Amino acid sequence: MNIVSTRGAERLVHVPLGERAYDILIGADLIKRAGGEFTARLRGRRAAIITDEHVGPLYLEALTDSLQTDGVETVSLTLPAGEKTKSLESLAAVTEMVLSARIERNDAVIALGGGVIGDLAGFAAGIVRRGVRFVQIPTSLLAQVDSSVGGKTGINSRHGKNLLGAFHQPDLVLADTAVLDSLSGREFRAGYAEVLKYGLIDKPDFFEWLEKNWKKVFEGGEERIEAIAISCQAKADVVAEDERETGRRARLNLGHTFGHALEAATEYDSRRLVHGEGVAIGMVLAHQFSARLNLASPDDARRIAAHLSDVGLPTRMSDIDGVLPPTEVLMSAIAQDKKVRSGKLTFILTHGIGQSFVADDVPASEVVGFLEDMRTR
Ligand SMILES: NC(=O)c1ccc[n+]([C@@H]2O[C@H](COP(=O)([O-])OP(=O)(O)OC[C@H]3O[C@@H](n4cnc5c(N)ncnc54)[C@H](O)[C@@H]3O)[C@@H](O)[C@H]2O)c1
Ligand SMILES: [Zn+2]
Repeated sequence: MNIVSTRGAERLVHVPLGERAYDILIGADLIKRAGGEFTARLRGRRAAIITDEHVGPLYLEALTDSLQTDGVETVSLTLPAGEKTKSLESLAAVTEMVLSARIERNDAVIALGGGVIGDLAGFAAGIVRRGVRFVQIPTSLLAQVDSSVGGKTGINSRHGKNLLGAFHQPDLVLADTAVLDSLSGREFRAGYAEVLKYGLIDKPDFFEWLEKNWKKVFEGGEERIEAIAISCQAKADVVAEDERETGRRARLNLGHTFGHALEAATEYDSRRLVHGEGVAIGMVLAHQFSARLNLASPDDARRIAAHLSDVGLPTRMSDIDGVLPPTEVLMSAIAQDKKVRSGKLTFILTHGIGQSFVADDVPASEVVGFLEDMRTR
């Protein structure tokens, strides 16, 4: 761990990637100081801010004021909120706007929003002039603990999610924890599933800490900053070891093979299931499946499910509204998941809380039997 305390409760996580190294600052009201943090780290004095129609009206003015006070010229583009915005059409709008604003290589594109805006703006920053500077100001909990760290950027294609993209690391990430107060309860809980994931991967102490402190994380204050800093550090550690996702980074997908299958099975209808909810159910399933294979104790799955229920997250397939498609349909979604190699199914399994590992030889028949048993429970 090398989380550094800066001012008061504020934290700094450094992502050591040589020439592409950068800092993640985590604290309340960082947007109001964005100008100073920007000019301390970037040479350019122009920025194109990309945001969405939910976040822009709340925080764009404060960000613009701060940047302009420190001598950074800004332009902005506000896009519709939601996953549909990760499209080629939006990419065209963003790149044309960035070029019109005469953003040069040392100037920056700033993403002010959740993971949708971060992925889209980051991809645009990666391809305009073969790469301009990029600053992430993630405003959803999911974006603060997951999508803004690691440099994966991209958009969706008609062929599927995130199929067009590039690695483009940010130069600075400002995670303003106070903006999470305007996030809906459901979106906050969904992001929390990803926070808990880091405990389940390899940090049993963090899992226990969350069991005790989760209410304070939801309320705000120092515990929220701490939980986000530990999560960013956890992701940064993995990214620093495996920047282009070849090996260790796979464990970040704990709960995601089942989760993605459930998202596909509900046709990505966010009224029925949002990503973090799929991950919550998926993490419980991964532990239950590990217990069924005699790798872990069933008590672990029960303990995780109890905590997720306290928080208000779903834990079972039957918690999803409406009828789920047959098991074969879930299986075909699992088989299409990118973690399948040469006919064998790859899953992130576990020996217990904080003891996950990559298993790449899971027989499909075991998964079918398991899902058949679980879908009605
Ligand atoms: N690049 C990566 O490594 C990575 C990792 C995980 C997820 N992702 C991507 O992230 C996206 C999901 O991110 P998300 O969950 O942040 O979705 P999102 O960007 O759609 O944000 C969720 C909703 O919350 C709103 N919102 C965001 N911040 C707010 C705030 N402070 N106050 C009020 N409303 C706010 C948004 O307008 C939106 O309606 C997906 O496209 C996914 O593919 C990328
Ligand atoms: Zn996820």
